[in-house]
Amino acid sequence: MTLPKKVKIVEVGPRDGLQNEQQPISTEVKIELIHRLVDAGLRYIEAGSFVNPKWVPQMAGSDEVFQGLFSREGGPKAGVTYAALTPNLEGFERAVAVHANELAIFAAASETFSQKNINCSIDESLNRFTPIMDAAKSTGLPVRGYISCVVGCPYEGEVDPNRVAEVALRLRDIGCYEVSLGDTTGVGTPDSIIQGIEAVAAKVSISRLAVHLHDTYGQALANIYASLLMGIDVVDSSVAGLGGCPYVKDNGAKGASGNVATEDLVYMLNGLGIEHGVDLDKLMEAGRFITEKLGRENGSKVARALRSKS
Ligand code: HMG
Ligand code: MG
Repeated sequence: MTLPKKVKIVEVGPRDGLQNEQQPISTEVKIELIHRLVDAGLRYIEAGSFVNPKWVPQMAGSDEVFQGLFSREGGPKAGVTYAALTPNLEGFERAVAVHANELAIFAAASETFSQKNINCSIDESLNRFTPIMDAAKSTGLPVRGYISCVVGCPYEGEVDPNRVAEVALRLRDIGCYEVSLGDTTGVGTPDSIIQGIEAVAAKVSISRLAVHLHDTYGQALANIYASLLMGIDVVDSSVAGLGGCPYVKDNGAKGASGNVATEDLVYMLNGLGIEHGVDLDKLMEAGRFITEKLGRENGSKVARALRSKS
C-alpha cells in the first residue's frame, strides 16, 4: 500500500459548510469566501446548491452567488471548477442558467435518510437523476455523485457496505464520473471506512471514488489516511471545518459536524509530502475571514494552533 503523489481537494465549505448556518450570510460574503479559497489555490469549489429553498434556506441565494462570481472583474478563474448541487431537473435548470460548470447529484445508502433528505426512496432518487444526467450530457456538464450514510445512518444505525456498493454502481452507470462516499455523521473509523471502500471498489474502480468525511467524532483524518493508502486521491473538505447536513439533527441524534477542515487536511498532506496545490497561509486567511463573519470559533485545529504561535 502506497500513498498517492498528488491529492485533489474538493472544497465544499461554501455549500456543505454554509448550508447548515441559521444566521443570514450575505451573497457578498459567500462570493468573497469563494474568491479567497480560489486565491489560496483550491481548484474545485462547490459554490452552492439548487435545492428547494424552503428545505435549505441558506442556499436560496445560490443563483446570485454564481452570478456574482462570474460577473466580478476578471470573471471565473480559468482552471477552477465552480460546482453546484442539484437534486432534480428544476435544480439542474437553475444551475445551468447561472453557468455552473459542474453538477453534483446526491443519493443515500439508507432509506430513511433518503426520505428525510430528499423526500423520496433511494430507488426513486436514482430514477429522478436519469433526466438530469441526460440533460447534463447534452450540455456537456460533468456530474459527480454523492452517497450519504456510507457507514452509519442517524435513523437506521449501521449501514451494509454492499448497499453502498449497489448505489455507487447505479450512480456510475447513469454517468457520474466520480462517486464521493459520504460519512455523513462521521461515525466511521479506519476499519469501517476500509470495509466500505473495499465493497464499493469491487464494483466501481477506486480511481472513480472520493471520500467526504464529516469529523463529528474526530476520526476524519485517520479515515482519510486509511483511504489514501487504499488508493483514493480525491478528498472533500470544508474550510475551517464549517458545516454539516441539516437533515441529521432532525432526529434528535447528535448533529453532524462539518467535514474535515481543509486546513487540517492540507497540513497532513504537507507532512506526508503529497502535492495538493494549496497555500496554507492563504487558506487560513480564508478560514479566518469566514469564521469572523459568522462569529464562531475556527473548527480547524491546525488554524488554531498556528494562529496561537503567530
Ligand atoms: P419535494 O417537496 O418532494 O419536491 O422536495 P417537489 O418536486 O414535490 O416540489 C415541491 C416544491 O419545491 C415546488 O414548489 C417546487 O417548485 C419546489 P411549489 O410548487 O410548492 O411552490 N422545488 C424547487 N425549488 C427550487 N429548486 C429546486 C426545487 N425542487 C423542487 N431544485 C427536494 C424534493 C429534493 C427538492 C427537496 O427534498 C430538497 O430540496 N431537498 C434538499 C435537501 C438538501 O439540500 N440537503 C442537504 C444537501 S445533501 C448533504 O448535505 C449530504 C452531502 O454533503 C454528503 C454527505 O455528507 O453525506 C452531499
Ligand atoms: Mg456532507
